[in-house]
Amino acid sequence: MLSRSHQLRCIANDTRIDPSEVASDFRDPETRELYEVEYPWSESRTGTDGSARNLPNASALRHLWAERRNSTLPIDQSGVWRYRELLPILKNDEYAVTLREGNTPLYDLPRCGKLLGLDFLLAKHQGMNPTGSFKDTGMTSALSVAAERGFQWVACASTGNTSAAMAAYAARAGLRSIVFIPEGKIAWGKLSQSMDYGALTVQLRTDFDGCVRMLAELVKRHPIYLLNSVNPYRLEGQKTPAIEICEQLDWQVPEHVVVPGGNLANGSALGKGFAELKHLGFIDRIPKLSVIQAEGANPLFQWFTNLENQLRPVTADTRATAIRIGNPASWRKAARVIEATGGWCEQASESEIALAKAQIGAEGIGCEPASAVTLAGTKKLVQSGHIQPGERVVLILTGHTLKDPEYTIDFHKDLLATGEAEANPYRKPPLVLEANEATVLRALEAEITRP
Ligand code: F0G
Repeated sequence: MLSRSHQLRCIANDTRIDPSEVASDFRDPETRELYEVEYPWSESRTGTDGSARNLPNASALRHLWAERRNSTLPIDQSGVWRYRELLPILKNDEYAVTLREGNTPLYDLPRCGKLLGLDFLLAKHQGMNPTGSFKDTGMTSALSVAAERGFQWVACASTGNTSAAMAAYAARAGLRSIVFIPEGKIAWGKLSQSMDYGALTVQLRTDFDGCVRMLAELVKRHPIYLLNSVNPYRLEGQKTPAIEICEQLDWQVPEHVVVPGGNLANGSALGKGFAELKHLGFIDRIPKLSVIQAEGANPLFQWFTNLENQLRPVTADTRATAIRIGNPASWRKAARVIEATGGWCEQASESEIALAKAQIGAEGIGCEPASAVTLAGTKKLVQSGHIQPGERVVLILTGHTLKDPEYTIDFHKDLLATGEAEANPYRKPPLVLEANEATVLRALEAEITRP
C-alpha cells in the first residue's frame, strides 16, 4: 500500500508545508511563488537514484491500470483516477468527483505530417473530454480536494475553458461556483457552458489578467476554494495525459510533445508527468516539451528568445481567446520544463493559427484556435531543424472545435482579418442558393467536376 501523505514544496526555495497550511492564493507568503505537490516517492525527496526506497512498482502498476479498463467503477473508468497511485492527493477516494474524463484519443495526422515532412505526427485530443477541453483532467483532481476539505464554494478566473470545467464538476459535487471571465473576450460555447452548469457567471470589463487580480481579493476575504491553475492539485490531474500517451504508445516515448501556452500550467503539468514516469522506471527517457504561444500573447516566447531572468508581462491580444494571457502564473514551472527536457518556445501569428486550425479540421478532427498553435509552431520547429523528419511528434490539442464555432465561420467566410497575403485553399464558405433544381445542380456540378 502506497503512502497517501503528500506535501507542498515551494518551487522557489524548496520550503515544504503541510497541505493544510497553504494560503488561499496558493502562493508562498515569502517568495510569492507557486507550490508543487510532492510525494514520499518524488525525485525531489528520494534523489535521482530512488532505488530501494519503496518506489511504486512500474510493472505492477501498468498491469493494474490496464485491468481497470474492464472495471465498472466510476473512478476506474476515469482516465485520471485510473492512475490514482501517481496522484494520491485524496485521503479518501470516495471524494473523487468524476465525469469519466481522460481516455482521449491519440489520432494520427497523416496529411498534416506530409505537409510538414514528418513521418509520425500524432494529436492527443484533449478536446474530447466531457466539457470539451483538457481542463477536465485537472478539475476532477482539484475539485475533489475542495470537496474532501468541505468547501461549499469554488471559484476561478478564466478565458472560458477552466470555467466550463469548474462549473460542471462543481455541479456534479453539489458545490457552488463563481466564474470571473473577461467580458466580450471568450468564445460563446464556453460562456454558455458555465451558465448551463449553474455557475454564478461574472463578466468583468477587463482582460483575463484583470480577472485573476479581482479573484485574488475575493478568496482572501471568503472561504472560497481557488481553482485556477496556481492550485497545484490541478496539475496533478493534468499530468495524467503524459501517462496516457505513453500507455497508448505501448510505453514508447515520442521525441517531442508540443503544447499551446497560455497561463503555462499545462506544459508544466505534462513535464511533471513525464519526469515522474521516468523517475519511477516506466520510461527510460523524457520527450522534449515545446510550448507555442500566439504572437499577440507571447511573454514566454520573449523570455525564451531574449534570455532574460524575469518574464515581462505583455498586453495580450489574439483571436485564440483561450490563450489571451499576458502575465502567465506558471511561467517559471514551464520554463523549467522546457530547459529540463531540451524543448523550445515558438510563437504563431494569427494567419498561421488560422491556417493550422483549418489543416487540423481537414483531417476530420478539428480543434479550437488555441490548440492549433501547436501545428503552426511545429512547422517552424521543423523548418529550424529542432524537429527532425524521422522523429515522433505529439501535438496536444487542448479544446474541441465546437468551443468556438464563430472563429471557424469567420475563417471560412474570410472575416478573420488575419492579414494573410494569399488566398487560403482551406477556406470553404457555405454556398447559399435558391432551392431551385437548376440552380442547385448547376452549382454542384461545377464543384463535383473540379479536379
Ligand atoms: N488551450 C486551451 C483550449 C485553453 O483553454 C488554455 C487555457 C490553453 C490552451 C493554455 O493552457 O493556460 O495551461 O497554458 N485556458 C485557461 C482557461 C487559461 O481559463 O480556460 P495553459
